[in-house]
Amino acid sequence: MLSAKITGTGSYLPELIVTNKDFEKMVDTTDEWIVTRSGIRQRHISTGVTNWEMGVSAAQVALYNAGVDANSIDMIIGTTSTPDYFYHSLASIVQLKLGAINATCFDIRAACTGFTFAFDVAWQYIRNGKAEKILIVSSEVMSKVLDFADRSTSVLFGDGAGAILLERCETGGVINSFTMSEADKKGFLICKAVDNNSPFVTKQINLYDGINDHFVHMNGRETFKFMARAVPYSIEKVLEGTGISIKDVAHVVPHQANIRIIEAVAKRCGIDYSKMIVSIDRYANTSSASMPIALHDAVSSGIIKPKDKVIFVGFGAGLTYGALLVEW
Ligand code: ACO
Repeated sequence: MLSAKITGTGSYLPELIVTNKDFEKMVDTTDEWIVTRSGIRQRHISTGVTNWEMGVSAAQVALYNAGVDANSIDMIIGTTSTPDYFYHSLASIVQLKLGAINATCFDIRAACTGFTFAFDVAWQYIRNGKAEKILIVSSEVMSKVLDFADRSTSVLFGDGAGAILLERCETGGVINSFTMSEADKKGFLICKAVDNNSPFVTKQINLYDGINDHFVHMNGRETFKFMARAVPYSIEKVLEGTGISIKDVAHVVPHQANIRIIEAVAKRCGIDYSKMIVSIDRYANTSSASMPIALHDAVSSGIIKPKDKVIFVGFGAGLTYGALLVEW
C-alpha cells in the first residue's frame, strides 16, 4: 500500500540565545519559576532574521539530508502563525528561494497544530498518488507577537523553523492519522491579527472582550486542562484499529508546549518517559515549528531507528489537535 515516509529533516534556530536569567532582568520572574512550571531554560530569538529566511534554511537542510533536488518536489506546505506577508504564503516564498519550480505551494494555519495538519494533508496527497515528494516547512517568529512586559506569556515561547521531506513509499511510513478541532468559546488562547484602519471603518469589533492588541493571550490553567485532555485522546485515537499498542511505540514526538504536559501525557498513557522526544528546555515553545525541530535533533543524534513506531502529537489554539502514527 502506498504511504509517505520522512526521508529528510532540517531545522534552523536564530543565533541569539535568551536565558531565563536574561528574563529576570526584564520582568518579575525567576529561572526557578520558569524551569519548574514549563521546563524551559533558554530560547532562541530573532535579531532580525525573518520567518521565511528561517524556513528556507530549515528546508535546505531537510533537502540536503534527503539527497533530493528542489525541482523534484511536487508540493510545499508551509505552516506559520507569524508570517512575514499575508501573501505570498511561506510555502510560495520557499519555492521562490529554493527554485522548486514544479511544486504546488500553500500554507496551513492551525496555530501550534499546523505541522500535524500539514503532515496529515501531505500523507493524503501521497497515498492517493497525487504527489511523490512533499516538503513541509514550519517557521515561527513568536517574538513578533509576544508582549515582553507580560511575564505569563513572554517566557514560554521562542523562534525557529523546522522542515521535513516526505516521499512516497511502498512499505512503512504513515500508518494512521487523527485530527480534530473544537471551538475555543472563551478565547483562552488567542492572538489578534492586524486591525482594519481604513477611512471607512466606524467601529473595531473584537471576537473576545478585552483583547484589542496583537499579542499572544493565554489562560494558562485552561490551556493546561485542554492539553491534558486532548493529547492522550489523540494518542488513543491514532492507535485505534491499527493493531498497534502504545507498548509497541518507540518514540513520541509531542508539540513542545510545556514539560509538565509531556510528563503528564507519558504517565497517563503508560509511556516510558525516555520515549518522549523533548527539546523544550533548549528552544521553548516554537509553535508549529516545535515538532520538526525536535524531530530533527532526534534524527541527527540517531535516536530514531528504522522500523521504529513513532507517534507525532500536536495541539494548539483554535482549539486544534491531532496525531500521526508512523513506521520509520
Ligand atoms: N514568573 C513568575 N510568576 C509568574 C510568571 C512568571 N513568568 N507567570 C505567571 N506568574 C504568576 C502569576 O502572575 C500568578 O501570580 P498571582 O498568583 O500573584 O496572580 C502565579 O504565577 C500563578 O499563575 P498561574 O497562571 O495560576 O500559574 P500556573 O501554576 O497555572 O502556571 C503556566 C502557569 C506555567 C502557564 C501553567 O498554567 C501552564 O503550564 N499552562 C499551560 C500553558 C502552556 O504551556 N502554554 C503553551 C502555549 S499553548 C500551546 O502551545 C498549545
